[in-house]
Amino acid sequence: IQQAAESLHVLNNFAQKFFTEQLLQTEEGQSHALTYLEERGYDEKIITHFQLGYNPQSRNAFATAALQNQFNKEVLLKSGLLVERNPASSAGREELFDNYRGRIIFPIHNNTGKIIGFGARVIGKADRAPKYINTPENEIYIKSKILYGSYFARHSIDKNNECLLVEGYTDVISLHQAGIDNVVASGGTSLTTDQLRIVKKYTNNLTIIYDGDAAGVKAAMRGLDMALEEGLNVKLVLIPDNEDPDSYVKKVGADAFKSFIAANKKDFILFQLDVLLKEAGDDITKKKEAVNQVAESLSKLNRAEDFTRRQAYIHECAAALKI
Ligand code: CTP
Ligand code: MN
Ligand code: MN
Ligand code: MN
Ligand code: MN
Repeated sequence: IQQAAESLHVLNNFAQKFFTEQLLQTEEGQSHALTYLEERGYDEKIITHFQLGYNPQSRNAFATAALQNQFNKEVLLKSGLLVERNPASSAGREELFDNYRGRIIFPIHNNTGKIIGFGARVIGKADRAPKYINTPENEIYIKSKILYGSYFARHSIDKNNECLLVEGYTDVISLHQAGIDNVVASGGTSLTTDQLRIVKKYTNNLTIIYDGDAAGVKAAMRGLDMALEEGLNVKLVLIPDNEDPDSYVKKVGADAFKSFIAANKKDFILFQLDVLLKEAGDDITKKKEAVNQVAESLSKLNRAEDFTRRQAYIHECAAALKI
């Protein structure tokens, strides 16, 4: 496993350099991909900081470079950078080709800065193809343990004693560019216990900034009990008007974004209570279920150091419920 991991690291490192060069130094990269990133408001400094890249449209631009550099086929396939053409349709000829053709490349770093995988985005609207393709699970890319941006955020998380958690790659990068750099992304998936444990290594204070749509609310509710069990102090902000943190910070600017977060940060338990009570309306049975669910969440606060906090929540919830 150690050896497989090491070969994957070496390959990913090589790939990142190749993709970045394609983005910044080639005509196709500049006119196609760099222009797109610049139109979205990313400057060259942030593009370089996050080591973004571009995989050319040709079938085997990266395949050719990788094979010339003696990377072996097994590692290349495991990395997800190349895929194999169906051997039956290529008349017995082996053929490897680029998996991320024509896509913007977002390298994903582990906590020590090593590249463990990539996210690859189509340029412009994703009509037919999936918007993002990500590295498949392998020895070093373990999806449930990845927090995108943690390498770039860890000092700032430490300094601010707070970790901001957003949904996507571009949210992390835009907030960084706006000077808000204690931020990581869950990669759109619902939170895992392993991800929360990584946060816990740096801080007890987690602020989740999700899109204010139904999916965002649902994802937030799912993460609550897990986060409480890990002993995290969780706050939540929903971004309004079908925006996400990336588009919202660009729309209103860094200062207004920060004020918005500060003013709208809601305690996670009280957020849950709000959502449940709104759903319940005047229905007594549903109200009773809401009380039970909040009590269930409060029961997760069972560490000795959580005692005071639990008492405070009980008072606030009782007041809100008028019981
Ligand atoms: N995601 C993914 N595969 C998809 C769609 C989304 O892995 N087909 C993950 C990515 O990590 C993405 C995150 O979920 O960053 C959030 O998805 P979404 O909000 O749709 O994308 P954005 O991050 O907003 O990307 P963009 O602004 O470029 O549209
Ligand atoms: Mn930085
Ligand atoms: Mn969303
Ligand atoms: Mn977006
Ligand atoms: Mn988004």
